[in-house]
Amino acid sequence: MEYMEPRVLELNGADVQVIVDARSEQVPRIVHWGRPLGLDAAGREAFADASQSQIASNSIDTPVPFSVVPDASRGWVGAPGIEGHRQGRDFALQLSTRSVELQAPSDPRIQTRLVTTLADQALEIDAELIIDLLTSGLVRTRLTVRNAGASPYTVDAVRLGFPVPTRAGEVLDFAGRHMREAQAQRHALTVGTHAREGRHGRTGHDASLLYAVGTDGFGFRHGEVWAAQTAWSGNHRTFVERQTNGRTILGGEEILLPGEVELATGAEYTTPWIYGSYGEGIDGVGRRFHQHLRARDRHRATPRPVVLNTWEAVYFDHQPDAVFELATKAAGVGVERFVLDDGWFLGRRSKQSGLGDWTVDRSIWPDGLLPLAEHVRGLGMEFGLWFEPEMINPESDAARANPEWILSPGHRQPPTSRYQQVLDLQNPAAYAHVKDAIVGLVRELDLAFIKWDHNRDLTDAGHDGGRAAVHGQTLAFYRLLDELHAEFPDLEIESCSSGGARADLEVLERADRIWASDCIDAHERQRIDLWTSVTVPPELLGSHIGSSIAHATKRRHALSYRAMTALMSNLGIEWDLREASPEELEALRGWVALYKQLRPLLHTGDVVRGDHPDPALSIRGVVAQDRADALFSVAAVATGVGAPPGAVTLPGLDPAALYDVSAAAPADGVLQYNGHPLPAWWSTGVRTTGEALGHAGIQLPALAPDHALLIRATRAGEED
Ligand code: GLA
Repeated sequence: MEYMEPRVLELNGADVQVIVDARSEQVPRIVHWGRPLGLDAAGREAFADASQSQIASNSIDTPVPFSVVPDASRGWVGAPGIEGHRQGRDFALQLSTRSVELQAPSDPRIQTRLVTTLADQALEIDAELIIDLLTSGLVRTRLTVRNAGASPYTVDAVRLGFPVPTRAGEVLDFAGRHMREAQAQRHALTVGTHAREGRHGRTGHDASLLYAVGTDGFGFRHGEVWAAQTAWSGNHRTFVERQTNGRTILGGEEILLPGEVELATGAEYTTPWIYGSYGEGIDGVGRRFHQHLRARDRHRATPRPVVLNTWEAVYFDHQPDAVFELATKAAGVGVERFVLDDGWFLGRRSKQSGLGDWTVDRSIWPDGLLPLAEHVRGLGMEFGLWFEPEMINPESDAARANPEWILSPGHRQPPTSRYQQVLDLQNPAAYAHVKDAIVGLVRELDLAFIKWDHNRDLTDAGHDGGRAAVHGQTLAFYRLLDELHAEFPDLEIESCSSGGARADLEVLERADRIWASDCIDAHERQRIDLWTSVTVPPELLGSHIGSSIAHATKRRHALSYRAMTALMSNLGIEWDLREASPEELEALRGWVALYKQLRPLLHTGDVVRGDHPDPALSIRGVVAQDRADALFSVAAVATGVGAPPGAVTLPGLDPAALYDVSAAAPADGVLQYNGHPLPAWWSTGVRTTGEALGHAGIQLPALAPDHALLIRATRAGEED
């Protein structure tokens, strides 16, 4: 194929513009990613010319290109786009463009696709670069590298990235651990490479849900923000690299273990998608992810059911009578989906044994699980079951009979974690074993839902007598989910990995819910859910009402706080309702009913968050797409600087519209001092404009720590 018509191209839509300079044989350069610049074709050419930087002092004698695949062969001295070799030779790859084509794919989620074919004829490597501008305004890119030579080509790394302007001066990314996911951290964007790496063989609790850079002081509602996610459930790295020549690249890559990708003649390696989101404030960036995920083919239009999960209610203590009673109690408060968690299969009396033996333990469930499934359905609920398909306990029949199914470096076993090892999904017999077991139980029990868990890091994960296996294992996991979905299109799957350690965009192409954390403490969940929901829309985010003393932290919270926290997402219950008092059950029934009433709004609207100077206040809301209705949650996550807190803004409303604003639920955390009245509107409601609410704000009552308020704003009519 010949290199065609040199051009400066634009990808435009959803208030985003990507301008690509494809005029030379070099890999196309993105010269602008941000708000639309309003340039015609000639203007774009002039702009692309003006974006060429001067040759720096002590530099190579030709301009160094700044492309999506950073090009070391043309003088890029940052991290190179491609690192590879043929047995130690042919390292100096230089890709040149063979063709560039703008396409309008039939996939409604893709607005415009730019496909560039590339090749290094001397080294016999072909490549295809895709840059998509999605209908949501997200941009994404991936590269396929193909070995056209006669000898194997080893790929060590493929890094792709988007340029961000020098005015981006601050980084926001995420740390986290088991029971404490999605902890935001910020620092200055200085010269050098700043990266978040996940080497867990899964996405990771500390994974950057989002790696964002922005103009100084950017917040939820203000400042320009550019953000990336490496959409991959295995090892990965997302980074920003600022060079001394004024260039900054925001990018990502799969971290490949030694020898993991060795391409035989004609074989290919395709990178994960690297997603980018540009917007005003963190909300502007997050909205695009939500729009993209909500447009998935598999996105469920049905109301997101209230779940009861048995884990913190009974743990491994599966006594059929107790579980039947729990189901009856669950139905009584309005639960719609009953999920039997860990503990139902052969030998699974604790974490120490059983994983891999996916048959119902008849010593615990003498009649199998069908009677329970039928009891649950008889109560009008769906039935779901927990699996941890990619894992195996050495203490299991499966491991004893097939020791070669365990991922290991060959000459020794990896350390156990949670007493378990990882099942080699690239081993066809192991794959068939676990798939057949799942298929059998989905059919037999007519399962509506699987909670799909993954509870350990992939340490020393090799197969085939010593080849690193994380890359292949990740692809095999995707294949397994894809095959199950093809066979059972209505089966819903929750992605859980010791809580929120697998919540990336690629798994979300295959999952209907994520379990955001094993910490069900409402205090912690306020933060975890707030930040997780930047990329994950609330209807996909599982959040549960736990028992009054949180198991993870021993904190005690009022039901109102636990419920107001969980109902902002996909509400569930994880509490032994057999121990709840009649008053608690009655109150719980009320919260479940409120959730059901609010979910059409909460699960389709625009998620907004409030910037408030007092970090004790956490402000979240969902505004209907037509802005006629909104619900806000204001939580005090600590004692406030001010009590009362001062004016609080309710963002995202139509500035010109009038709204009726009122309390949406009784608030037992409101503090009243010496018998003096609360702000009058709190009991009577108030009618005011979206501008007044969003810009100036209104006074809220003082709130006790670890309590929340729910506020509803409904449009009363347009202002005169
Ligand atoms: C993990 C999950 C929990 C629960 C247990 C069961 O920790 O995150 O929700 O399912 O496993 O062992």
